[in-house]
Formats: sequence, structure tokens, C-alpha cells
Amino acid sequence: MKIAIVGYGKMGKEIDRVAATRGIAVGPRFSKSSNVHAKGLTKASLKGVDVCIDFSTPAACLDNIEAAARSGTNIVVGTTGWYDKLPEVTKLVQAKQIGLLYSPNFSLGMNVFAKLVGAAAVYFDSFDMYDVAVREIHHKAKTDSPSGTALMLGQVILNEMKRKREILTEAPRGAIKGSQLHISSLRVGTVVGTHEVLFDSEADSVTLVHAAKNRTGFALGALVAAEWLKGKRGCYTMNDVLESL
Ligand SMILES: NC(=O)c1ccc[n+]([C@@H]2O[C@H](COP(=O)([O-])OP(=O)(O)OC[C@H]3O[C@@H](n4cnc5c(N)ncnc54)[C@H](OP(=O)(O)O)[C@@H]3O)[C@@H](O)[C@H]2O)c1
Repeated sequence: MKIAIVGYGKMGKEIDRVAATRGIAVGPRFSKSSNVHAKGLTKASLKGVDVCIDFSTPAACLDNIEAAARSGTNIVVGTTGWYDKLPEVTKLVQAKQIGLLYSPNFSLGMNVFAKLVGAAAVYFDSFDMYDVAVREIHHKAKTDSPSGTALMLGQVILNEMKRKREILTEAPRGAIKGSQLHISSLRVGTVVGTHEVLFDSEADSVTLVHAAKNRTGFALGALVAAEWLKGKRGCYTMNDVLESL
């Protein structure tokens, strides 16, 4: 198994480190300067590479996906902030017959957590005295809010609870509607990423919490995803990895 690392920032470097511990060979490592407009990703440079792993920027990653597709190389995409282009990307993946796996959060713990949240939401959907909300806490340098992961958890809840039909990410100016699922964001210090799902009734409340401790979990999950994606065609998410266990 050989990977190429596309985007050699904080995540790219962590993937490099964790790959060594799993016996995964690391081929080329592409940074911004060696990959302007994805020109570094060619058939020749990706020869022998089973899967590219992209943790770059939203601006760069669509070009990177296109270049990987042109060269016929599978790609795991950790970069967030491009999901509005998913329909076009899915078409490209089908046309070029490659495999692509994306996730807003590659942590294995978070992906199991999302399953637990979905299961809890199914039960609480039957008891309409329970309300539900999501809260995420991240370090003060995080640029986007709410986190892609909080939105993903929100979607899991919307899928399972019929009475929740829309996500509210703004601070409420008054009472919120029963159909709204409030997602709130808190920015403080150096928190790597904490996500809480609160089910609340007059009688009791249930809080499910996932707290990331460092970037290792994201890197490990991306490498597990790359191993799973080797030789596959089509568009996948971490849910497909978990479902196949
Ligand atoms: N899905 C997940 O589990 C997960 C987890 C953590 C982070 N992320 C996401 O992953 C992305 C990267 O995160 P990070 O913390 O590693 O950020 P980062 O430290 O800023 O690294 C991004 C790297 O991409 C490089 N880059 C820019 N354009 C490029 C190009 N055309 N080709 C190759 N590399 C290019 C940048 O180079 P320069 O430094 O030269 O500009 C930078 O080193 C973000 O979108 C983040 O939200 C996802």
C-alpha cells in the first residue's frame, strides 16, 4: 500500500508520521509550491501510488480531485468546505472510474459517535417530550463555524427525528420553533474539537460527548479509509467503511 500526501500542513505531516507506524509507504508529498493548480499530480508523479490523501485547502482540493481523477488514482479527501460541489465531483468520479472517499471528520471515534447519536435519535423520536440540540467547542483560531462535524451530526439527527426539519446555526433572537435543531458554537483557547448532543426533557437529560485530544485520530482514520478505498471505484464516506465491518 502506497499513498501520496497532498497538502503538507498540520494534517499532512501527521499522516506521514502515523503511516510509518502502520507500515504504509509514503510516496510523493505535495505542498502548495510543488502543486500550483494541481499541476504536480500527474500520471508520472503518481505512478505506483494506490491512494492520494488530500488535506489541503477548499480552494485547492477541487483541482486536486480533478487531477487525481485524470491520472486514474483513488483519493481520500479530508479537506472540508467544498461539499456544495459534491454533485459535480460524484459525476467526475463516475466518469473517470476512480474511487473517492470524503469525510468532514475522519476520527474513528467520531464516526462511531455519529452512529450512537443516530441510534439515540431514533429512540427519542418516539418520545416527543425530549428536545435535542448540538453544541461544538473549538480553539479560537478555527475559521469556520459551526464545524462541518456539527453540521454532519445535525444531519444525522434530522434524518432520524421527524419533528426536526431545519438546522438553526444563528443565535436565537427569541423562542425557537419545535422543528428547528439548534447548533451552537463556542470558541475558546486550544480545544481540538468537542461535540455534544443534548437530549432534554422535564424529567431528565442525556448528553453524548465526543472530545478529540489531538490530530492523530483524524490521520489514523484517513489512513484506514485509504486502505479500505484501495482498488475500489465510486464515491464513499466513512459510513461505508463502518458499514462494511
Ligand atoms: N476531515 C477531517 O477529519 C479533518 C481533520 C482536520 C482538518 N481537516 C481539514 O483539512 C484541511 C487541512 O487542514 P490542516 O490543519 O492540515 O491545514 P494546514 O496546516 O493549513 O495545511 C494545509 C496545507 O495545504 C497546502 N496547500 C495549499 N494549496 C495546495 C495545493 N495546491 N497542493 C498541495 N497543498 C496545498 C498548504 O500549503 P501552504 O502552507 O504553503 O499554504 C498547507 O500546508 C482543512 O480543510 C481542514 O478543515 C479535516
